Amino acid sequence: MRSLKNILVTGGAGFIGANFVRFVLEKTDFKGRIINLDKLTYAGNLENLSDIEEKTAGKNYFFEKGDICDSEKIKTLFEKYDIDTVIHFAAESHVDRSIHGPKEFIETNIMGTFTLLETARTYWKDKKEVLFHHVSTDEVYGSLGETGFFYETTPYDPRSPYSASKASSDHLVNAYHHTYGLPVTMSNCSNNYGPYQFPEKLIPVMILNILNEKNLPVYGDGKNIRDWLFVEDHNSAVWEIVKKGKTGETYNIGGENEWENIKLVHTLCEKMEKRMKKESGYYKKLITYVKDRPGHDRRYAINCDKLKKELGWNQSVDFNQGLDLTIEWYLSHNEWIQNIQSGEYRNWIEKNYQER
Ligand code: NAD
Ligand code: DAU
Repeated sequence: MRSLKNILVTGGAGFIGANFVRFVLEKTDFKGRIINLDKLTYAGNLENLSDIEEKTAGKNYFFEKGDICDSEKIKTLFEKYDIDTVIHFAAESHVDRSIHGPKEFIETNIMGTFTLLETARTYWKDKKEVLFHHVSTDEVYGSLGETGFFYETTPYDPRSPYSASKASSDHLVNAYHHTYGLPVTMSNCSNNYGPYQFPEKLIPVMILNILNEKNLPVYGDGKNIRDWLFVEDHNSAVWEIVKKGKTGETYNIGGENEWENIKLVHTLCEKMEKRMKKESGYYKKLITYVKDRPGHDRRYAINCDKLKKELGWNQSVDFNQGLDLTIEWYLSHNEWIQNIQSGEYRNWIEKNYQER
């Protein structure tokens, strides 16, 4: 079992990163410090952690605004906080955006990961009690046909600028382990959902469009398949890996929960019809098939037996329960939604946060 003291979490103001910080500080016995480094791009939102900031800032939680591509900033943070663990979430994460403009994906996902690795290698030298954990995606494995699963040994076959940039960062992490002996672990996870997800990804797009009675855009024939996992289950897996995972190893994380997009959208409509007391079919009428995403991967499905067998991890939230929790979260966070949708949360940051 590793003992972690000063953890640099990158991208901790984003969807999964913010849930991770919350999980570690509220649901584990971690006694060290979390330093959250985030550039606050459109996807980074300090409101995601405002309660945590209030309760713990300056004690065991510290926020630092900055870019993972900025080597001076990273070096300063390693020195200032004597970082012994990096948990690297920061990335450009949306496939559609990567198709419209891949540049930021190359910069952040590849150059940013490289910058972090270089700093860790230089600062840690031959230290053994340190760890660089890289958070990655199942999309690096490409697209499956009707059968089969992604294993840790599945050859890489990324097909979008996003997945190509993540694959590239995965290779760099492995290379730093094999060439320089940097202690690393890596995880490749399937589609996450849950509170604080930016409304550009399928589930929050659908929930918010249903609420606003706007069209529900389903790409292509709606039969693409994704494997959905509640965000806290992803984070509990990452925590198990950084505590107990074998150095140099990759672990797949998944929901074992495959859904065709159209079936998932139907389920969301049905749940919302019940919740909002509308007649059956009221929201389904909003479903609109739209032009497909270019290069749209057909099916993802993760085999996560290694993680289950070696580290004893398991999913804890089933999909029905997780979707209900997520719907209730969006229904009770109107201000968060308004801020995201109006760009107001930028002003919120100016008001509530002084750069340190
Ligand atoms: P997100 O887009 O919600 O958040 C990304 C965060 O990174 C934001 O807070 C953003 O401000 C920050 N960031 C972006 N560029 C940065 C930079 N140059 N320097 C510092 N901070 C920067 O993403 P997410 O969905 O929370 O994903 C987090 C990680 O998990 C990513 O590495 C992603 O590839 C991976 N992942 C995501 C999913 C998923 O379903 N969302 C599944 C598997 C893996
Ligand atoms: O598999 C893990 C990946 O999951 C992560 O690495 C990515 O960061 C994350 O964004 C996610 O990628 P996807 O492309 O699978 O997620 P997205 O929510 O964008 O789309 C899910 C599916 O729904 C996909 O088949 C495209 C489809 N879709 C999406 C949106 C936003 C629609 O049909 N309509 C939509 O409006």
